[in-house]
Amino acid sequence: MLRTVLQRSVKQVRYFHKTALCSGGEGALFVHRDTPENNPSTPFDFTAENYTRVEAIIKNYPEGHKSAAVIPVLDLAQRQNGWLPISAMNKVAEILEMPPMRVYEVATFYTMFNRKPVGKYHIQICTTTPCMLRDSDGILEAIKKKLGIQVGETTADKLFTLTEVECLGACVNAPMVQINDNYYEDLTPKDIENIIDELEAGGDPKPGPRNGRFSCEPAGGLTSLTEPPKGPGFGVRADL
Ligand code: FES
Repeated sequence: MLRTVLQRSVKQVRYFHKTALCSGGEGALFVHRDTPENNPSTPFDFTAENYTRVEAIIKNYPEGHKSAAVIPVLDLAQRQNGWLPISAMNKVAEILEMPPMRVYEVATFYTMFNRKPVGKYHIQICTTTPCMLRDSDGILEAIKKKLGIQVGETTADKLFTLTEVECLGACVNAPMVQINDNYYEDLTPKDIENIIDELEAGGDPKPGPRNGRFSCEPAGGLTSLTEPPKGPGFGVRADL
């Protein structure tokens, strides 16, 4: 009896740990530990051009509410540096006159902020339910096999980083991945291999669906609204 209970609880523990991998290991998303490459002395400052952008961003918000600009200014810091060291967060806190902790809270909450260096191409694969039902596991396996890396790792040539993320809001085009700012959708394992090949060759693969759809229209053709629409106000007023 005791054995059965123990076996069952071991199984349950495994399930919980499987989920933790999605965030790149226990606590990795939320906890900062100083490292030689990421500490408060890591050099970071905005370029003159980006200081102009920061000013323009701050002007979007009312007087006295500079802190509202924290997400776009953090995003700008990440775009300039490729990732977001704690020194960049401290600089953002200084510019926006907010306590550094408030900036850390934002940067650790949103997975769009990379608090570790990432490769030139950051592949974020969604494995949430709709994508999982459309075989995101197959896409994930194809990426791992093709690049020889696991989730949370970067290829030796620093070209690709693989991250597993929650829903990216493109469920209707599942399965999908985000690579840098682009979405690649309606994927098969072969599609993702082709996309990686093209990126490796220095190309710029076309984002969007890969199954012939233009956008998120029904894959099997229209099932409603199949007739030309009636004119506005049809049947309501004789003069329309
Ligand atoms: S579940 Fe994958 S994009 Fe929503």
